[in-house]
Amino acid sequence: MSSTVWVRRALKPAVFLAGLGPAIWLVVRGFQGELGVNPVETVTNDTGIWTLRFIVLTLAVTPTRWLTGWNPVALFRRMLGLFAFFYGTLHFLTYFILDHSLELAGVWDDVVKRPYITAGFTGFMLMVPLALTSTHGWIRRLGGHRWNRLHQLVYVSAIGAVLHYLWKVKLDTTNPFIYIAIVAVLLGARLWHHIARASQK
Ligand code: HEM
Repeated sequence: MSSTVWVRRALKPAVFLAGLGPAIWLVVRGFQGELGVNPVETVTNDTGIWTLRFIVLTLAVTPTRWLTGWNPVALFRRMLGLFAFFYGTLHFLTYFILDHSLELAGVWDDVVKRPYITAGFTGFMLMVPLALTSTHGWIRRLGGHRWNRLHQLVYVSAIGAVLHYLWKVKLDTTNPFIYIAIVAVLLGARLWHHIARASQK
């Protein structure tokens, strides 16, 4: 079996199931009444951190391909990006439905007045066009160059996401700074690659 066929048939379904794991685990803990004293906060924080983890994993695909030369890793990029959007949607819906009882005015008030919500909202909103245009049909319709340009919005989304995390956490900022460092390395690798290619021309 070639490497690509093996990735498609075995590794992709395994990664898909693993990606659903955190959501299933939340549901199981919910049914067992193990979401702590503030279940809404637990669900919001869990879905938030998984959104960020999947953004980071999505951004790691291309540098991994450059480092290892293993091209089939690119086959995971769309799935990982869609998982980021899936957890982002759960995160936003938890906040919108359970925190704000579906009141758009309250959400908008938060977006305008609380910088950490402004950053998170921007990060999430930028993921919407990326998820919608993630299909092969859209790549064909937009053309590779324009599609790539549009999907560079994920860089802004990642910056919004880490700022949201940093500004939300009030006491121990170690974890937000770890994610900031990872995102900086992943975006820095792209910049370095871009400069190296431009200087070869
Ligand atoms: C790119 C999109 C987003 C990412 C990656 C993200 C990530 C996170 C992370 C990592 C946390 C903190 C988890 C922790 O402290 O353990 C968090 C908390 C939170 N996020 Fe987001 N978020 C995003 C979008 C949003 C949006 C759109 C909203 C609402 C408009 C939002 C509302 C919140 C709230 C209210 C909390 C605090 C929950 C609490 O402590 O009760 N987030 N988010």
